[in-house]
Parts: sequence; C-alpha cells; structure tokens
Amino acid sequence: MQRKYPNLCKPIKIGNVNFRNRMFSAPMGGTDITVDCTIGRASTAFYELRAKGGAAAVTISECIVHPQTDGSHAYHLDLQTVGSLSSFTYTADAISRHGSIASVELSHSGQYAGTYLTDKDKKYGLAQWGPSAGVRPDGLEVKELTEKMIAEIVAAYGNCAGLAKRAGFKMVMVHGGHGWLINQFLSPYFNHRTDKYGGSLENRVRFAQEVLDSVRKVVGHGFPIEFRMSGSELFEGGYDLVVGVEIAKLLESRVDLLHVSAGTYQRGFSTTHPSMFLPHGSNVYLAAEIKKHVSVPVATLGGLNDPAMMEEIIATGKADVVEMARALLADHDLPRKVMSNRDEDIVKCLRCFTCMAERAATSTRRCTVNPLIGRELDGTEVVPSSRQCKVLVAGGGPGGLEAAITAAKRGHKVILCEQSDQLGGILKGEQAIPFKYEMYELGVTLEKLARDAGVEIRLNTSVTKEYVEKENVDALIIAVGSEPLVPAIPGLAGDNVVVVNDYYMEKDKVGNEVVVFGGGLAGCEAAIHLAQEGKIVHLVEMRMELAPDANIRHRPILLEEIEKNKIHVHTGYKGLRVTEEGVVCADEAGEEHLVPGTTVICALGQRARRKVVEDLVDCAPYVAQIGDCVFPSTITIAVYQGYHAALDI
Ligand SMILES: Cc1cc2nc3c(=O)[nH]c(=O)nc-3n(C[C@H](O)[C@H](O)[C@H](O)COP(=O)(O)O)c2cc1C
Repeated sequence: MQRKYPNLCKPIKIGNVNFRNRMFSAPMGGTDITVDCTIGRASTAFYELRAKGGAAAVTISECIVHPQTDGSHAYHLDLQTVGSLSSFTYTADAISRHGSIASVELSHSGQYAGTYLTDKDKKYGLAQWGPSAGVRPDGLEVKELTEKMIAEIVAAYGNCAGLAKRAGFKMVMVHGGHGWLINQFLSPYFNHRTDKYGGSLENRVRFAQEVLDSVRKVVGHGFPIEFRMSGSELFEGGYDLVVGVEIAKLLESRVDLLHVSAGTYQRGFSTTHPSMFLPHGSNVYLAAEIKKHVSVPVATLGGLNDPAMMEEIIATGKADVVEMARALLADHDLPRKVMSNRDEDIVKCLRCFTCMAERAATSTRRCTVNPLIGRELDGTEVVPSSRQCKVLVAGGGPGGLEAAITAAKRGHKVILCEQSDQLGGILKGEQAIPFKYEMYELGVTLEKLARDAGVEIRLNTSVTKEYVEKENVDALIIAVGSEPLVPAIPGLAGDNVVVVNDYYMEKDKVGNEVVVFGGGLAGCEAAIHLAQEGKIVHLVEMRMELAPDANIRHRPILLEEIEKNKIHVHTGYKGLRVTEEGVVCADEAGEEHLVPGTTVICALGQRARRKVVEDLVDCAPYVAQIGDCVFPSTITIAVYQGYHAALDI
C-alpha cells in the first residue's frame, strides 16, 4: 500500500524499542485519580483509546515522584500505596495490548505544588518547595530545597522509573519543561542558588542530569528515556532558545528522545498549549533549531493536527517524532486514519480549551467534538441496533450531523433535513474568521462522515408536522438550533447592521470603523477578527464583563487578544438606538454616548427555535430534542446530545 504520508507513518527505533509510526500521544492528565492517588479505571480506558487509535506511544501524565515535597496533582507510583503498582500495571497493559508503547511521565511540580488541585484552597495546606526561596504570584511562600532533599528527589525519580518498568512501561518521560521543578532549576528566573545547583548553566543543569542518571541506573541502557523540555521559556527573565540549545546539548548523552515543548504553564499557558489565535505548529521552530545541534531524535508538538504539516515536519528533518495532545482528544483515531490514507475523515481539534477548562473546573475530561472523551468506560463502540428504524433528523448543524452519523452507524435508515442550502448550521459563519476556521471545517467533515455512513441528506427542506407524518418515521431527532436575537432596538434593522451569523456573507458591507454590539463570546471573537483585519473596533456590552460564559481557559486568552488588538471596550453600556454614525448607548448613570462606527455588528445572542420544536414533539414514537433548540449553548453540548439521542433510539 502506498502511504499518503510515508514519513509520518514510518516506524522509528528509539533506544531498543520499535515504535510503529511517528505519532505519539502527549501526556494528558490525570483526572480520574483515586483517593489513594492511583490511576482509576476511567483514566485507564482513556489512555487505552489513544492506543487503539493508532498512536505509536501513549504517555500517561504526571506521576509525581516525591509526594513528601510535592502533593500537587497526579498519581503516585510507590509500593506503600495499596493498589498503586497494580493500577499502573493494568494501565500499561491496556496501552500495550494495542501495539502502542506505554510510557509514564515522571514529574515534580516544585514551587508550583497545588496548581492542579480542583479545590485551590487546598494548596494552602501544602508546602511549596523550589530551587530558591521566594513568594509566588498568588502570595504563597516558596521554601528552598536543601541538598539533602534534592538527593532524595533525585533518588525518587529513579525509584519511580524502576517501578514503572516493573509495571510494564516500556519508556519513561522525565518532565523537564513547562515551569515544573526541573524547569525551575534550569531557569535563571526561578533558580538563584549559589551552590552547585545554581549560577552557571552547567550548575543549573546538574539537577536534570542527576535525575536522568538516577533513572538510567535503574532502567538500564536501551530503555528509552524521553526528556520533555521547553525549548525556550518564552518570557522575560526566563531562558531563551540559545540557552535551550545549550541545555539540550548538556543533556543529550543521557536521553534517547528530546521532546521540545515551549513556555511555562504558569507564565504562558497559551503558548505552551497554543491557542486558536496562534498558527498551527507555532512551536516547531524550537525543536527544529535544537535538532540541528544534537544527535538524538527530537520530538515536537503544539497545535499540530494536520497530517500534511506533520509529514512536512518529519520529511524536512525539523523533528523525528510529532506529539499531539488535543488533536488526539478530538479524534483518537487520527493516527489510524493517517496510516490508512483516510485523513479527510479526521475530526480536528478546535483549540476551544473545553478539555483543559473541564479539567480545571470539575476534574473531568471532555472534548467538544468527541463525545467519548471522559466517558470511555460507558462504551466506545457504536453497537448496531437489533431493529432497523427509520430516523429523521431535523437540522444539519453539528448536533444534528453527529446524531445522523451515529444513528446510521447503528444501522438505521437516516434522513437528515436542513432548511437552508448548506449543512453546518451556526458553524457556517466561522468560515470568515481564520482563527475559527476549524469550527467551519467541523461541519464539512461531519457532512462527509454522514454521507459516507449512508445518511440521505435533503437540503432546502423545512421539517413540519405534516412532513414528519408523511415520512412515517420511527424516530425524530429535533436539532433545529437557534436564531440570532435581534431585539426591537431602533435602527437595528438598518442597512448598516450585519448580524454576526451572516458576517461571512456580508463581509464586504463592513466599513472601517465598526461597533460590535454585544460582548459575549461571538461578539468578542468577531471584534478580534475585525481588528486583525485593520479596522477600528468598538465593543459594546451591557454587563460589566466581557464573555462571562467563555470557558475559564479560553476567556483570559480572549481578553488578552482584545487588549492586544486595541479594541475599544465599552462595558456597562446599554445600546439605545443605532444610527448611521454608530450606536447611542446609556452608561450606568443613564448618560448618553455615541459609540462611533459606520457598520454595526449585531452579536446580542441566540434564541432557541422553540416554536419549531413545539410543533414537532408529537410527530413520532421516539422524539429527542438536542442542542441549541433546547437552550442556546455550546457545540460541546450539541454534539454530546446528538450522539446520545442516536444511541437511545
Ligand atoms: C487536557 C490536557 C491535559 C494535559 N495534561 C498534561 C500533563 O498532565 N502533563 C504534561 O506534561 N502536559 C499536559 N498537557 C499538555 C500537553 O501534553 C501538550 O504539551 C499541550 O497540550 C500542547 O500540545 P497540543 O497542542 O497537541 O495539545 C495537557 C494537555 C491537555 C489538552
């Protein structure tokens, strides 16, 4: 078979271990942790799905090596905790039995102990230990590790690596990046020691070297050690790429794979996990530069999800391995699809940060476009139905499409009706906003998957009661979505107003000075896009906060972009009327102000199409309502409900 992406699909030997391709599953942590800090069954199932999806290696995330000085976030691997070794063994087995190499990330959060705790108050009960004493931005005192403690931590890395090997892991990843303890030692920003662990670069690297030696001593030669580092810390005062190269050179003899990531969790979250506002592969240059200076294989990652781009990275020698985290949440089968030339079927990550926000908010996993994530134990296979039903899905947005695909996979005869001439629903509007283009692409991909699954698609077809009754269906899934809210504000129906959902069709109407009326998520993102297009943008919001409903990871990045793009923000402004000169608003004291702009973008929210729903609810034996037509919400909810409505038939 001729592989479309031969370099990406090519096996690689690292240490004495053969990996089936160049696509590795980057560490993603640790939500289903038992009270004893071992790996629960749900997490095991989560990692297993990555292996089933074809990743060459699956790294389970942060096993903390020295709970006595850490206690931050994830699993412990030790012999004292009942169930610790066995839980790791079952996880290694679950990964290995699908032909993937099981790896475990060994970590210590150092002065950032407590970062991952869902209940942030608990961090006050921990001691925060770092290379140097100081005070964290959140006011917590950091204590300096003594040389005796350093020696204990170094030994703990080796001890954990040995237990990991015993549990059946075939590789270990030592986490030396993202601002955690080893990174803190490497960094001139965090490390002010005057002993053999501080000062010169050779001294700052010593801790990492000792850790790697301790691990090597236990695992032996040929057992791959992957070292995760930040190629540059990417903040002022941190080390840069020139130093990153030197660090790599000083460590390469001790490692089998140098994994080059970027930045720090605490001081650059949106570059460590490149946000939708950054280009794909924005951190690849760091790995590419380091690769020029070392002889061990190098891995890269960060916002990668396009096989063509990843193929180019390997083919041109920028890296030997690509790693993905979010892309494999969105589509755990991505490597398998690449291997079988089915790249057009890949459901791409939207970089919406639902995954990381859920993790921080509720200690669970969820992905907007993959309804299985975090729910793997509930079943990952779509099982055929024992009786074929005739199913009508009303509405071709993401929820309707997901429902149609799932119902068709179950063997039902599925008709999907869409009242407009194009599928995708609300996602159609995203095609005009480059940083949200993947949301538009989601509709395109789901349409392809629906057609391939045998769904009959009827465009320009409104579903009425009579229509459903004539079709005589067994099941009706109502996914008719929502419509823009355009209140009866004087002037809002004028020619100078573009409803945000229609912007993609009326882009040319938009002048150089724009008022975006409504500072919810859609309004904020439209404002950023328009400012990026070089327009003067005013953003008007009645509430005192912008986009309060945006998730806790995306929102701070969104607000940063608003500032960076010099958008004029008017919160606490109530729009009274739209004129040719802009929007007249009242401030909190009731005083009127004109917010100037020749074009007004109306982004005042969405309203569920309840009337349509109410007309249809009695039209079939099984009726489900999903997504925005129930309550305007997120793509995440629409996709999840669509999937389950189809399973419930
Ligand atoms: C849900 C989630 C959890 C993560 N947890 C960890 C972790 O525990 N340890 C770690 O080193 N990196 C963690 N990461 C970071 C990823 O390994 C990766 O470096 C980052 O997401 C950038 O890669 P991506 O753009 O392919 O997602 C996590 C990422 C995500 C999305």
